[in-house]
Amino acid sequence: MPAPNIDTIVSLAKRRGFVFPSSEVYGGLGSAWDYGPLGVELCNNVKQSWWRWLVYERDDIEGIDSSIILNRMVWQYSGHEATFHDPLVDCRECKNRFRADKLIEDYCRSNQVDGSGDAGNRLFAERKIACPNCGERSWTDPRPFNMMLRTTLGAAADENDATALAYLRPETAQGIFINFLNVQTTLRRKIPFGIAQVGKSFRNEITPGNFILRTREFEQMEMEYFVKPDAEHLKLVDEWVGLYMEWFLTLGLNQSNLRLHEVPQTELAHYSRRTVDIMYRYFPERDEEERQWEELMGIAYRTDFDLRSHSNKPTDDEGKRINPDSTEDLSYFDEATKQRFYPHVIEPAAGVNRTVLAVLMDAYSERTNDKGETRVILKLSPQLAPIKAAILPLAKNKPEIVGMAKAIKRSLQPVLRAVYDDTGGIGKLYARQDEIGTPFCITVDHQSLEDEAVTVRDRDTWEQERINISDLAEHLQKRLKP
Ligand code: GAP
Repeated sequence: MPAPNIDTIVSLAKRRGFVFPSSEVYGGLGSAWDYGPLGVELCNNVKQSWWRWLVYERDDIEGIDSSIILNRMVWQYSGHEATFHDPLVDCRECKNRFRADKLIEDYCRSNQVDGSGDAGNRLFAERKIACPNCGERSWTDPRPFNMMLRTTLGAAADENDATALAYLRPETAQGIFINFLNVQTTLRRKIPFGIAQVGKSFRNEITPGNFILRTREFEQMEMEYFVKPDAEHLKLVDEWVGLYMEWFLTLGLNQSNLRLHEVPQTELAHYSRRTVDIMYRYFPERDEEERQWEELMGIAYRTDFDLRSHSNKPTDDEGKRINPDSTEDLSYFDEATKQRFYPHVIEPAAGVNRTVLAVLMDAYSERTNDKGETRVILKLSPQLAPIKAAILPLAKNKPEIVGMAKAIKRSLQPVLRAVYDDTGGIGKLYARQDEIGTPFCITVDHQSLEDEAVTVRDRDTWEQERINISDLAEHLQKRLKP
């Protein structure tokens, strides 16, 4: 049974130290969240799983870590300055601002009308759409709003000084494109090969919300896979969709909560010729099935758009250089065919935070114990669990038992993340570990002092078995294997 809604996860996340509202001591900061001791472990485990899968287990992908703040020209030539917009409308009555495309989409779905092109925008002037906040129908004209967050570099006298203007990256992808030649030549890579990067991105979202689903600061796991222009790109998109679906299943996501969405041509990003989104059922509580889904990640065929745009050689129809500012040509020379070309790119782009939210929702379950009390059990896949084993002494006033429990914790720590806890009765301690997804609780009791063995309790079945302390590390490692 997955979580019935996102709110259930918000409350569990705060109660158990996964995610806290940010800047709470000053009344918070809209849609900003801080990851607590367990949240940071869960995020790290998701990122490590992704990195291991792509960079270590495959032989055709390298990793990098580029700057968050890049030369402003990167964003001019990538097209983000001119086109990375969301359409914005203001309600003239309550002064709230909304994404025009989302309001149009909701109206058209409910009223079964076509809102493509200008027809959608006209719905505001025709007073068809009601403000979700105040119910009035008085709107400004929709206008583009650039979503890149700005900053100024150095000791600029004026914050509007154009020479000091810089952006916080809205995608990690551009850091990969501008390093394509560096990686390809230093690692002597032949295409096809990919470059992976994980890191923070920033977007000045008009309407952030739904917990960590849409925030202005978030983390991406992106990979650009460079192929020959004549490769069968459309098939490659499907191939990567299949690989990511499998990876999400290994993270414990439920197949029935995942589905694909072929992005219509009219809604493609400026760089994409085809995009397939993997959607997750973040809103199971909504009656209308179509409104239950939101994008978990996208797989786009970006063509050679970015490598070409950042290169100094390509010219327009009149023979003028498209990019007179670049000092490099990011083309690739194929030794086998003696041809030079700009590789095409397949880009799987996933969000760490959206993956974490989906993982938490699908791991959530409830179980009633012998006393009729309902317990939350977070059935996280063992590879993602923030803590793998909790060592619990049955008598905290017995120095020999406490000493033995602490020694077991220390001996396990080099091979797996273990904690020692004696802050409650055993029932409470079990319940607390179940709720944060710890796969195993190890109990040290009086008998342990005699037989050098402990009780290992399984989170999902609540079954217990007696294991010799000398075999414990190996036993747990075996059971934790994906
Ligand atoms: N380089 C392509 C790119 O950035 P995208 O679909 O805009 O594509 C990729 O973003 C993924 O990043 C999304 O599928 C989502 O998981 C995550 N993402 C994007 N905007 C986000 C936001 N405001 N908050 C949280 N995650 C976000």
